Amino acid sequence: MPEGIGDFVRALPKAELHVHIEGTLEPELMFALAARNQVELPYASVGDARRAYEFSDLQSFLDILYQGAAVLQTEEDFSDLMSAYLRRAAADGVTRAEIFFDPQTHLSRGVAFATFMAGFLSAQRKFAGEVDSALILCFLRHLPEEDALRTLDLAEPHLDQILAVGLDSSEVGFPPEMFKSAFARARSMGLRTVAHAGEEGPPEYVWQALDLLGAERIDHGVRSLEDPDLVKRLRDEQTPITVCPLSNERLQVVPSLDRHPLPRMLELGLNVSINSDDPAYFGGYVGDNYVQVAEALKLSRDQLATVARNSLASALTR
Ligand code: ADE
Ligand code: ZN
Repeated sequence: MPEGIGDFVRALPKAELHVHIEGTLEPELMFALAARNQVELPYASVGDARRAYEFSDLQSFLDILYQGAAVLQTEEDFSDLMSAYLRRAAADGVTRAEIFFDPQTHLSRGVAFATFMAGFLSAQRKFAGEVDSALILCFLRHLPEEDALRTLDLAEPHLDQILAVGLDSSEVGFPPEMFKSAFARARSMGLRTVAHAGEEGPPEYVWQALDLLGAERIDHGVRSLEDPDLVKRLRDEQTPITVCPLSNERLQVVPSLDRHPLPRMLELGLNVSINSDDPAYFGGYVGDNYVQVAEALKLSRDQLATVARNSLASALTR
C-alpha cells in the first residue's frame, strides 16, 4: 500500500521556526490552569472556547490570544505548556524548534522573568533527546520601544537561554523602524534577529525588517510578493521566510488555503518553510500545515521535502 501523506510528512525531519508558545495553549490545558490558579475564563466549556476561535483579522485573534495567556502564572504552568508543545512537535517529526515567547504579556501581569524562563527550561531539558529547542524573545510591537528595551534589561541574566529576538503582535501602524534601537541593542548583546513582517503589513515593512533591524529571517513575509524588487532581494540572499498557511487562512490574510501563495514562493526560488504559528487557535500543528497545504495546493512530495530541508537549513545557531 502506498504510504499516506500524513506518514510521509511525519517521517520528514523538519525544523519548526515560527511557533508562539502562548499560541500552543490548548483549551483543555487553559481550563486546567484556570482551575489551578482560580482564574475566570470567558468561556463556559472547552467546546465554547473552540467555537469562539473565529477571526476576522490579526487583531481579533490577538485579543483572544492575550486573554487566554492570563491563566499562565507559575513555573509549573509554563513547564506544562512547553512540555505539551514539545511532545506534539516530536510526534510531527520536528527535530529542531525555535520557539517565540512574549515576555511583556507575562511581565505586565506580575509574572517574573525568572518564573517563565525556569518553566521553559525544565520542559526543554525533559525533551532534549527528542527535540533540540531554543527560545526567541519577541517584542510586542503595539507597546513602545522603551518597554522593549526594559524587557531586554530583564532578559540579561537569562541570555544563555535566549537565541534571538523577534517582533510580533499588531503589525499595521507599527513599522519595524520603531524598534531599531531595541534590535541594535539585542545584536550588541550577541542575540540573533528575526521579525514578523509582510503578514498584514506592506512590503515596505519587510524592507525595514531587513535593512533597519538586520532581521536574518522574515516571519510570514507573504505580502513580499507584491514587490518584485523585494522578491529579487529575498531570492538572491536566500533569506529564510517562515510561512504559516493555516494561520494565514484563519486570519484572512489569504481568502482560502487553495489560494495560498506558497507554490508561487517556491517557484520563485524563495527559501520558504512551513510552520504552525499558533496551533491551538488555528486548528493544526506543523504536520497538519504540511498535509493540508499539500492537499489544497497539490504540492508534490519532492516539494514538501524541499520545504523540510529549507526549514533545517534556516535554523539559527549561536
Ligand atoms: N503573535 C502570535 N501570533 C502572531 C501573528 N501571527 N502575528 C503577529 N503576532 C503574533
Ligand atoms: Zn507569528
